Parts: sequence; structure tokens; C-alpha cells
Amino acid sequence: MNLSVQLAPKNQRGLLLTNPVMTASGTFGYGTEYSHIFDIQKLGAIVCKGTTLESREGNPQPRLAETASGLLNAIGLQNIGVKALIKEKAPIWANWRVPVIVNIAGETTDDYARLAGELDGVAGISGIEVNISCPNIKVGGAEFGVNPESAAEVTSAVKSATSLPVLVKLTPNTSDIARVAIAVAEAGADAISLINTLKGMVVDVARRRPLLGNIAGGLSGPAIKPVALHMVYEVAGAVEVPVIGCGGITTASDAIEFIMVGASAIQVGTASFTNPRAPLDVLQGIEQFLKKEGVNNLTDLIGAARR
Ligand SMILES: Cc1cc2nc3c(=O)[nH]c(=O)nc-3n(C[C@H](O)[C@H](O)[C@H](O)COP(=O)(O)O)c2cc1C
Repeated sequence: MNLSVQLAPKNQRGLLLTNPVMTASGTFGYGTEYSHIFDIQKLGAIVCKGTTLESREGNPQPRLAETASGLLNAIGLQNIGVKALIKEKAPIWANWRVPVIVNIAGETTDDYARLAGELDGVAGISGIEVNISCPNIKVGGAEFGVNPESAAEVTSAVKSATSLPVLVKLTPNTSDIARVAIAVAEAGADAISLINTLKGMVVDVARRRPLLGNIAGGLSGPAIKPVALHMVYEVAGAVEVPVIGCGGITTASDAIEFIMVGASAIQVGTASFTNPRAPLDVLQGIEQFLKKEGVNNLTDLIGAARR
């Protein structure tokens, strides 16, 4: 059975995964936190926590709230910063079989370009995932990913700063995600991942206050799966580059739905909080499904529900 997928066919280095199961940024730490729980080398790729130029402590507590079939988070990009990542984490990843992709976030286009430049050529790093769901400080605080122009600008800046494969991760908090996807693909993205969290809030009625310290947060988990699936369907129909599906994937069946609407790979996120082995369970479930269906090549399933 061949489960391998090429996520950056036009990039000189390429990004070949032995299977389509990735971890979602911010839900799997730096990978090291899970390596004693299961053999993480079996996964297709690991995407690490969002990384910024300087280390960040994140937002005030509380930063997490459980909702019906979902999780609301406002972590605020707590991370060790790119220099510590290169010094402390990359040397560990360099000895791994599984490719590690670094998720990056910035407040200006220049931040993104500088991050991409720092990561270029570092052993142990196989790709960059650009999180364009961060507030664009220079243009009034809206997210970069909300409009096609700013999303394309960040993508071009990152592409010019690195030869690594570049995945651009889209936000669902926009009116026309397919337009943003087309702009990002035209600006040179090697692949597109989606979706990030949907904006939401919870009120603590006893305190008569928003529950989260940050007031608003990002909704993830099974609650967002149908929304994510439809957005992946739309984007996969609009661009030629590989699409990576994410949003509420908890079981192999969820993952297969995303693959059938056109995703070449998938990311498991919030599910890892309730079941740390979720990415491996999803992978094994996909293998069983292919066997049962007599499908030898995963690529035969990609987009099967579109035809
Ligand atoms: C606690 C938490 C932290 C996250 N941190 C990041 C991050 O740093 N960068 C990013 O691009 N996405 C981040 N995400 C979004 C996830 O990677 C994913 O896109 C989203 O949660 C939807 O997938 P899921 O429903 O499977 O969790 C975070 C999500 C959660 C729940």
C-alpha cells in the first residue's frame, strides 16, 4: 500500500510525506512532548507550535474554555522564539525520520520574511507553515489572511526569504476563502493548509464577564468539522497546489472525508488533547480503510467525492 504524498511538487527540495497524517500547530508542542507516548516517527509530518521572532508569554489566563463539541482557546502564541527553536529543537529534529514543519507568525510582513530567512537551511527543518491568522498591526490589526492582497504579500515575502517548501495556513474568518487561496497560490505558496480556528467567545454568567482573559478566542474541535470540510472542498476546487485539511479531525473517517473532498494530507489538532495517540489512530484507521476498500494508492482517494 502506498500512502505517500508530495506536498511541494514545484519546490526544488520537495516535501515528501510517507503518509498524509500531520499534527496541527499548537496542539502537539515541538513533537518531543509526545515521543514517549507513541512512535511519532510513524507520522507523515509534525507541525510545531507557532513561532515568533522573540519569545512570548501569551495571553492572560484563563486561556481555554470547553464548549459543545469544541474548544475555545486564546493562548496568544506562547512560544520560545525562533533563536531558541533553532538552538534547542532543530538539532533534535535533525535526527528524526519524520519531517518537521515550523509554523511561523508575525505582526508585520517583514517579521514573516525575517523568520523565514532565519529558518532557511537549518538542519532538522523541512518546511515552513505560514500562519496568516495573526493581527496585521501595520494595517489596522485585521488578520493578514482576511483579504487576498495582504495574504499574497506575506506569501511572496516568505517565498523570497527561503528555499524551504512554504505552506500557507488560511483563516476561516473571511468572506471568501477561495479568493484568498487563489491569491496565495499565485504568490508562490507550495501548498495551502486550512482551517485555523473560528473566532468565538464564552461568558462566565456568575462573574458577568467574558470567560477568557482575552475576551475572544478560537474555536476548534469536532464542532468546526463541517465548516472546515466545506472550505477545503471550495479551496481544493480553486487551486492547483496541494491542499492540507484541518479542523475537527478526530477519527480516520473524518480524515478520509477531507481527503475525498480534495485534501492531499490532513492535520490532527484538538483531538490530541483528549487522546494523545489520536494522530497514530487516524493513520492506522486510514490504512485499514484502504485495505478494506482494496485501494493500493492513497492518491486514488484524493478528491474521490468531487468526481
Ligand atoms: C491550543 C491551540 C493552540 C493553537 N496554536 C496554533 C498556532 O500556534 N499556530 C497555528 O497556525 N494554529 C494554531 N492552532 C490552530 C490549530 O492548528 C488548528 O488549525 C485548529 O485548532 C483546527 O483544527 P482542530 O479542530 O483539529 O484542532 C491552535 C489550536 C489550539 C486548540
